[in-house]
Amino acid sequence: MSDRKRILTGIRPTGALHLGHYAGALENWVRLQHDYESYFLIADYQVSDYADDIARVRDSVWQVALDWLAVGLDPEGSSFFIESLVPEHAELTTLLGWFLPVSMLERNPTLKAEMAAMENPEDGSQERKPVPVAFYTYPVMQVANILMPRAHLVPVGEDQLPHIELTRETARRFNHRFKPVFPEPEALVGRVARLVGTDGNAKMSKSRGNTIELREDAESVARKVKGMYAGPPRGATEPGKVEENPIFLYLDAFDPDTDEVAALKETYERAGLPNKVLKDRLTEVLNTKLDSFRERRARYEANMGLVKEAIEAGTNRMRTISRETMEMVRDALDMNYLGRY
Ligand code: TRP
Repeated sequence: MSDRKRILTGIRPTGALHLGHYAGALENWVRLQHDYESYFLIADYQVSDYADDIARVRDSVWQVALDWLAVGLDPEGSSFFIESLVPEHAELTTLLGWFLPVSMLERNPTLKAEMAAMENPEDGSQERKPVPVAFYTYPVMQVANILMPRAHLVPVGEDQLPHIELTRETARRFNHRFKPVFPEPEALVGRVARLVGTDGNAKMSKSRGNTIELREDAESVARKVKGMYAGPPRGATEPGKVEENPIFLYLDAFDPDTDEVAALKETYERAGLPNKVLKDRLTEVLNTKLDSFRERRARYEANMGLVKEAIEAGTNRMRTISRETMEMVRDALDMNYLGRY
């Protein structure tokens, strides 16, 4: 086993990934994957909200894996794995449940918001849903996910930070009370903590239908950018405010030529610029970026056997380390009843 520190991070398989995932997290994964021993989780236990649509979950497992390969994650240097194929996660979740007070979960801001949304859906057409038991176990399982490979770093989107705080606290308590088994993992948020949606809403998200997916083709990207919200109505030669036009947030996020973006902003505020100029530039910037993804994706899509092998190999590596961790946990808890595990 290498002596590099470890990364554990993951995504729920509920659909294809989009630019928000990339700028908020995936970019960091790609950058750091070889500096750390990296484990990338497809969190298929964490889908109670899609329990009546497992076909979608199953399809999404492959979409997520393809997106990861497309952006340049290396399935040999790192490990891609499916959560439910490593049942030690369920075992560790049960044990950690002994030590995690419900009140700690109830204070978690992400959970609070999700619970409120379930009980009072914003969208009147959605019915109120009862809160499933899984709603309380999933954060414990997320803690178990991170602790399982004894990870040091968890690169994630901003919305996941409360889960990592919970993990740190759990690790601290366990180590203090039993044996020092777990590192206290650090969180790392991407360059763009939260990407606005194409409709100008504060967050790009599938449920709002305001995403640009990583797998989207060039025409579709052009069409979406054309339809993007670009601030309050304004004549083409009327000066505008940069902070009111989210196209600039996208250019800041994805345009490698920062000098040119600064020059565009200056002109925009001084003399005005037609939105079309900005949108055409953004389309080109995005399509240049996505082209390299599309090419890799197409190569793997034509050979799904390779994708399956990658996940199988990664899952096996995760199983090995999980068994090792569970031995340490049982030893720490003094649960080796028969003398051996
Ligand atoms: N909750 C994450 C999401 O919604 C997925 C996830 C599950 C995760 N377990 C994790 C992320 C552990 C980081 C670490 O996408």
